[in-house]
Amino acid sequence: MYYMDYENVHPLSHYEYVIQVDSDTAILKLKVFEEMKSLEGWCSEKKASILIDYILSKKPDRVLEIGVFGGKSLVPMAFALQANGKGKIFGIDSWDPVVSVQGMLEESHKIWWSQLDHQKIKWGLFRKIEQLKLRDYIEIWQTTSENAPLISEIDILHIDGNHSEERAYSDVLKWVPMVKKGGIILLNDMNWSENGYLTMVSAIEWLDETCHKIFEFNELYESWGIWVKL
Ligand SMILES: C[S@@+](CC[C@H](N)C(=O)[O-])C[C@H]1O[C@@H](n2cnc3c(N)ncnc32)[C@H](O)[C@@H]1O
Repeated sequence: MYYMDYENVHPLSHYEYVIQVDSDTAILKLKVFEEMKSLEGWCSEKKASILIDYILSKKPDRVLEIGVFGGKSLVPMAFALQANGKGKIFGIDSWDPVVSVQGMLEESHKIWWSQLDHQKIKWGLFRKIEQLKLRDYIEIWQTTSENAPLISEIDILHIDGNHSEERAYSDVLKWVPMVKKGGIILLNDMNWSENGYLTMVSAIEWLDETCHKIFEFNELYESWGIWVKL
């Protein structure tokens, strides 16, 4: 085969395209996407895929997630750490309905979160971690983000906890300084609104001022951004 202008020449056959795909990563992602179907939460395959790619390429020692819920974003990251054979993801979650509704403005959100069986969600995740043999790569702290002891030298930070203005802002203020220079911060639900009020704006503005934004994803039910720690 002779490609003069490689960038602008499409593969001649589907087979040529397929053999260019990194098959180990593709197989890992298919397995993760299958397991995600039985996990509670909201992480999309697209977001999981990007988190997996970051972990496979950066080979982090420490990943931190604020807001674990049923592990839909934590478990894909743990699978990627397992594939690397090193690193740990710390997952901080209160699994407490009183904490979940703190600062919430919208009545329907308050009702949903205060009626949710948080313990059932938590135990469902714990069973899944055992079943998937991911225990060596995960450390769960059941506490609030504000009360959790500091973790330093974080390579990747995923903020997906309480989305009230005050809590989201305090999450970035507390945890972003703990991220290594060059580390990655992913803030979820950037377009979250309560009674029409965009609650994540203060957190986003602070991130924009102190870090370098590299990516933003915006769709109707999914919005998140990625920043690099300067
Ligand atoms: C949106 S869910 C996380 C979803 C999960 N990351 C996913 O992708 O499926 C938010 C979680 O934050 C937790 N949470 C709420 N307020 C918190 C706080 N102050 N500290 C720690 N966790 C909190 C809730 O218990 C809930 O499980």
